[in-house]
Amino acid sequence: MLTNEEISVSIESSCDDTSICIFKGINLMEMKTISSIQLQQLYGGVVPEIASREHLKNIHVIFDELITKHQIDPLSISNIFCTNEPGLPGSLHIGILFARTLAFLTKAKLYFINHLHAHIFSAFINDYESIKFPFQCLVASGGNTILYLVNSFKDIQILNETVDDAVGEVYDKVARALGWTYPGGPCIDNNYDPQKADMVFLRNKPTSSAPFSFSGIKTAVLNHINQLKMKSLEIDEKKISSSFQKNIIELLIDKIKYYSKLHETNSIVLGGGVSANSLLRQMVSELDNNFKYPELKYTGDNAAMIGFLGILLKKEGVL
Ligand code: KG4
Repeated sequence: MLTNEEISVSIESSCDDTSICIFKGINLMEMKTISSIQLQQLYGGVVPEIASREHLKNIHVIFDELITKHQIDPLSISNIFCTNEPGLPGSLHIGILFARTLAFLTKAKLYFINHLHAHIFSAFINDYESIKFPFQCLVASGGNTILYLVNSFKDIQILNETVDDAVGEVYDKVARALGWTYPGGPCIDNNYDPQKADMVFLRNKPTSSAPFSFSGIKTAVLNHINQLKMKSLEIDEKKISSSFQKNIIELLIDKIKYYSKLHETNSIVLGGGVSANSLLRQMVSELDNNFKYPELKYTGDNAAMIGFLGILLKKEGVL
């Protein structure tokens, strides 16, 4: 049960974003996020130690700012929802320790929320009435690529997951080889030109039932770039990046189609950083009129999705 007046605080610190969100009843009041991405850009990827130190520096500042702005007495907080898995251990520890201390001092109830399950429901933030089970959901980010069959809040089955790299990770590595900034996904996506996407990096397409694997396409693209560099040949960045994007998104679409035939569902849902991708959204929309995707600000790691799932689970009596 959850009353309309209850104040809830949610915390996300699984990777490089420190994010806190405040809710009143089921309504989201405000989310504030500080990302360490600019520091991470210096290294071309997330350095766990830097991420942890930045969480430690920022987490109480964000909390203070939000409760001051909304004139919330900490003792009036009823629920704290905090992500505890999966993620970088050092980063998660900062959020968990902050949540435990806050719960101890305020006597609020503390609930831990699975970060990936929160991504699954992020497309429904501010629109929970449109959740219709069962649905198929692809969560694709820098650390995970998983297809789920979501039968209910409790019954969430993994249909397929990557055995090696995650899609976002491959985007980041290809962008780095082209000399583009981290994170590579938005850069490659913004430069996408369908007229130039005519290269084929995978000679043999995997069978539809095989587990996701993206190390093959990654190696093929990186080898191609390296060979051009070694031979001092011109590198057509747009041609390579556009072809890479078309090839990798087609791998995702292939699997979504395969499982759509095996399981009848109400819709296809996207979540995670890669769900911001314009080609992925376009191709899924061609498969399914009812398809759902998160607002851009909820595609990456964010506390709104942690609190939203926590509140839904409480409302439905699952927590
Ligand atoms: O969920 P997320 O913010 O963080 C974690 O991985 O934990 O996802 C970040 C990933 C990065 O690899 C980034 O390159 C990718 O999502 N990404 C994209 C796009 N926007 C972000 N990949 C493809 N197309 C995009 N538009």
